Amino acid sequence: MDTINEYIDQHKDRFINELIELLKIPSVSADSAFTQDVLDTAKAVKNALDKAGCDKTEICETPGYPVVYGEKIIDPKLPTVLVYGHYDVQPADPYNLWDSPPFEPTIKKTEAHPDGAIYARGACDDKGQMYMHVKALEYMTQTGNLPCNVKFMIEGEEEVGSENLGWFIERNHEKLKNDVILISDTGMIAKDVPSITTGLRGLSYVEVEVTGPNRDLHSGLYGGAVANPINILTKMISSLHDENNHITVPGFYDKVEELSAEERAQMAEAPFSLDAYKQALDIDDVYGETGYTTNERNSIRPTLDVNGIWGGYIGEGAKTVIPSKAYAKISMRLVPNQDWQEITELFKKHFESIAPNGVRVKVTPHHGGQGYVTPIDSLGYQAASKAYETTFEKTPIPQRSGGSIPIVSLFEKELKSKTILMGFGLDTDAIHSPNEHFGVWNYLKGIETIPWFYKYFTELND
Ligand code: BES
Ligand code: MN
Ligand code: MN
Repeated sequence: MDTINEYIDQHKDRFINELIELLKIPSVSADSAFTQDVLDTAKAVKNALDKAGCDKTEICETPGYPVVYGEKIIDPKLPTVLVYGHYDVQPADPYNLWDSPPFEPTIKKTEAHPDGAIYARGACDDKGQMYMHVKALEYMTQTGNLPCNVKFMIEGEEEVGSENLGWFIERNHEKLKNDVILISDTGMIAKDVPSITTGLRGLSYVEVEVTGPNRDLHSGLYGGAVANPINILTKMISSLHDENNHITVPGFYDKVEELSAEERAQMAEAPFSLDAYKQALDIDDVYGETGYTTNERNSIRPTLDVNGIWGGYIGEGAKTVIPSKAYAKISMRLVPNQDWQEITELFKKHFESIAPNGVRVKVTPHHGGQGYVTPIDSLGYQAASKAYETTFEKTPIPQRSGGSIPIVSLFEKELKSKTILMGFGLDTDAIHSPNEHFGVWNYLKGIETIPWFYKYFTELND
């Protein structure tokens, strides 16, 4: 299979250009202004799968955006790899903070990416990483190197919570049947430190509304005499953490999995520079739960964060007003064993209970999902590990990530299969932020590594 490197050398310009074409379509699932673009992207992905050598491809309708399905079954007796990815992207706002327009992909060289990186919304999360799998399939089918069966399931609602994917999976058990699920939608520690993601956090996302008087009031005539919803909301939010930055919602930690001293020591061995971390974010210190390191705080510990807060007058100049309402969006990142629906209930009960007289509080759950951990002794993990050893000449480090891909625990529950998370993004790739990018080196390295996974997974299953 040394031919993978030759194949990449011969075709890399086309690989990059095809990805650039896909990145030009603004498939923002959160904003209905982009509905047609999201649908066009599904078609583009289907075409790409056809060209890459799938025998059968389909645009599968769901109550939301469609799932793109593709397969190449070479022998039902051989193992089947199911590739999952998403073709939708986060909103690109605020546009003015981008150095080049988010849907006009531009290649630029940076310190982290001396070979250049593609700047565009979705470059890393997840069009670029998903497309590595399409090109790896092309290589395998074109050169007779596909050792097993492959299925693709690329969805269009990941960035808005995959709320229709449960519906789709329930109705398509047979179609999605597989021996392992392969996803590239996470990151790796560094270009010279390959890693495999072995854990994801769960999520509970809620919106809260605090209502005081029935209309906005003159802050002189009424100020001091009625509850100001913004004052109250901020006070309630501050009370959600104690002086050690523990979350105060009763029962919140009851099911949290505590790692052994040994597991924590192992985690601490992964290369990490706190100085570089602070420097990259322009902060003079980190901040978080007492008793845990930065890497523990952002992976094995649960969190509660305000994602947005609004209310009252925010226009030009001053307006003396006591607002009638204040709002916030709050996300809680959860760890394995915490049930997202249970946590949502606990939060709702607590938040309502701490509201003082004089205001009314409404908590509206948005979406959520369970966390995930995967063992490192599964066939899939071993195959992935060998694949990285082949292309990086280093054993990859298992790493638990702080992000969430709620569908992964659903896959395990519904399809009883393990997911292997082979991510090629870097933390500095600015996913969800302005100037998102994906290194050309990372993109090609992914395409190079994936076919080895297929080979080793098939061999290990023999
Ligand atoms: N690809 C990310 C998740 C991710 C990124 C995991 C990096 C690990 C490392 C995914 O697209 C995402 O953004 N997920 C959302 C959750 C979803 C329910 C909106 C998230 O983590 O905020
Ligand atoms: Mn993603
Ligand atoms: Mn994302």
